[in-house]
Amino acid sequence: MPKILVTSALPYANGDIHMGYLVECIQTDIFVRFLRLIGEDVIYMCACDAHGTPIEINASRRGISPRELVEYYHERHREDLARFEISFDEYYTTDSPENRRHCEAIFLAAKDKGHIFTQDIEQYYCENCKRFLPDRYIRGICPKCGAADQYGDVCEKCGATYSPTDVIEPACALCGAAPSLKTSTHYFFKLSDFRDFLVEWTATPRRLQESVLAFVRGWIDQGLQDWDISRDGPYFGFEIPGETDKFFYVWMDAPIGYIAATEHYCRGRHDRTVEEYWCNKDSDALIHHFIGKDIVPFHTLFWPATLKAADYRIPDAVHVHGFLTVDGKKMSKSRGTFITARRFAEFVNPSCLRYYYATKLSDSIDDLDLNIEEFAHRVNSELVNNITNLISRTVGFLNKRLDSRLGKIPEDAAALIPQVEAAIVRARGDYEILRFGRVMKEILQISDLANNFIQQREPWALMKSNPEDSRDVLTFAVNCIKAITILLKPVLPSYCRKVERILNLGDLTWEDLRLDLQNRQIGQFEKLADRLESDTLGKLIAASRDDLAGGIAPVAPEVPEFGAEITMDDLGRVDLRAGKILAAEEVKGSDRLVNLEVDLGRETRTILAGIKQSYAPADLIGRTVVVVANLKPRKMKFGTSAGMILAGVDSSGKIGLCELNPPVPPGTPIH
Ligand code: MSP
Ligand code: ZN
Repeated sequence: MPKILVTSALPYANGDIHMGYLVECIQTDIFVRFLRLIGEDVIYMCACDAHGTPIEINASRRGISPRELVEYYHERHREDLARFEISFDEYYTTDSPENRRHCEAIFLAAKDKGHIFTQDIEQYYCENCKRFLPDRYIRGICPKCGAADQYGDVCEKCGATYSPTDVIEPACALCGAAPSLKTSTHYFFKLSDFRDFLVEWTATPRRLQESVLAFVRGWIDQGLQDWDISRDGPYFGFEIPGETDKFFYVWMDAPIGYIAATEHYCRGRHDRTVEEYWCNKDSDALIHHFIGKDIVPFHTLFWPATLKAADYRIPDAVHVHGFLTVDGKKMSKSRGTFITARRFAEFVNPSCLRYYYATKLSDSIDDLDLNIEEFAHRVNSELVNNITNLISRTVGFLNKRLDSRLGKIPEDAAALIPQVEAAIVRARGDYEILRFGRVMKEILQISDLANNFIQQREPWALMKSNPEDSRDVLTFAVNCIKAITILLKPVLPSYCRKVERILNLGDLTWEDLRLDLQNRQIGQFEKLADRLESDTLGKLIAASRDDLAGGIAPVAPEVPEFGAEITMDDLGRVDLRAGKILAAEEVKGSDRLVNLEVDLGRETRTILAGIKQSYAPADLIGRTVVVVANLKPRKMKFGTSAGMILAGVDSSGKIGLCELNPPVPPGTPIH
């Protein structure tokens, strides 16, 4: 039996897991769990993608190191994906010693064989930020349609793609300065050396979906461009051996992360090694990748070619899925449809999402839509009213009226058994080719069939005349429930574990798919799934909109840089005095301002201070605070403020007043 290795693409450790990536993980996880269920030896490898410019910039903006940022998101990814029951055997990181080693080995082997060359290229450079600017970090006017403020590689207005040097009035996206062109030496991988290999590899049956093969062949036929695999510092990544301040482009080491994760997983395990998956040519291990349609060239051209160049084993299949839209549109932060896994799990049971995505998934690369209304309807009518209801009425009745004991399958159900068996056979075929939506239909058919049988035979009516007949009718239903449970296990693991407990059965496998339960005791019913209320989803969307308002999650307090140097004379121009607060009232109509009467010794001043969010006015009276006494009075919407009091504000908006403690008399100068 060949060993199987399955991967999902590695999400960037630059933000929380969102509903789009969950499509990919849930698809992969259902496949992996199906393989385990039928007894295959399968491992599921994944990691976070730690490198690249956006992570480096995001970290520096927050005043932390890229490694700290990656660790923060790595941990959150783990937590979020566990909530959705994604059963990775390993969730590693690309910023690991194993990955560095394999990355260098692959690069050096390719270099040895002459597949690497260097070439000078001209690229935009920001003198102000002291960095080369990747295409996405250039903003300017679209050369095709004239739209302002577009990316350096693609116009979101007209869809044109172009080179950053074509952009009109280019500007650094970070600081707004005009960039200049600067030359630097880059490393290239000669993808063109692998044309024949790629033609053959891509055309091998069952490796790529037909629609994917069509456009990959198109790229190959257009001519393969050699691939720029280096980036100049500052960059977060692995340094290129023998160079300083030159790094591997993130897409060079990212897929190698699949190998590193495997190695980390295999360490200390005696039954498997990284070599049998990725190195030994006589191994029959199989490698399956699952990815979204935006990263196809990386997995069908660069990745197999780099592996080939370094004499590693080559993947067997790349499965591509479409993009998630929400209510028919691209996920959008302002519409509240950019929903994170974390937010979702706060409002909705993750099983509902696994169920819904399963009904939508197929082997096609078409986009799939999370339609909020349909989502609730499907969960309620199929998972709750059909499947769960079958279980609760069947088991409930057996528990209450028939001592939880099964009888035998009644004779008039015999004709239905082949229908159940045929549905099982079709479900297996559909699981194998990733047509999960069709599997779900087969499952619902079995559930319908059992529900109809109960409806016709009316076990509650039979109870009076012949309780044993009633028991037999429900015994057939329990056998259908068992089949449904096994078929549903890859999709709803925790739900099915509960059903196994309810039926007093152990961990079921595909081999148990027989209608053979009779004359035995079952357990007690327990709650399985709740109806989804439509206002729950409204609340989820509202909270997701707030996520945007709240901005990115704080990793560590952001400490701004210190200001330009000043002299004692400069400092002396600010007249700071002790001021005693005599009266304080809230300013009507303002949610921040408090009106203060402050005694400054020589006079009493009215000062409007924006501190209401942290102090109740009554609580301020009697305090001695620090006042800027020579600030020009400021006219504000709510009156004139004749001075300013000093305070600190933290990143969440909480205020701490500067107080003189013990107090000094009002008007005392502060040095
Ligand atoms: N880090 C790279 C992948 C490296 S694999 C060696 C990357 N990361 S990503 O976070 O942008 O995307 C991770 C995966 O999620 C990709 O397969 C991508 O296609 C998928 N999706 C991202 N947004 C998606 C949707 N809206 N819908 C479905 N899948 C989506 O690319
Ligand atoms: Zn700049």
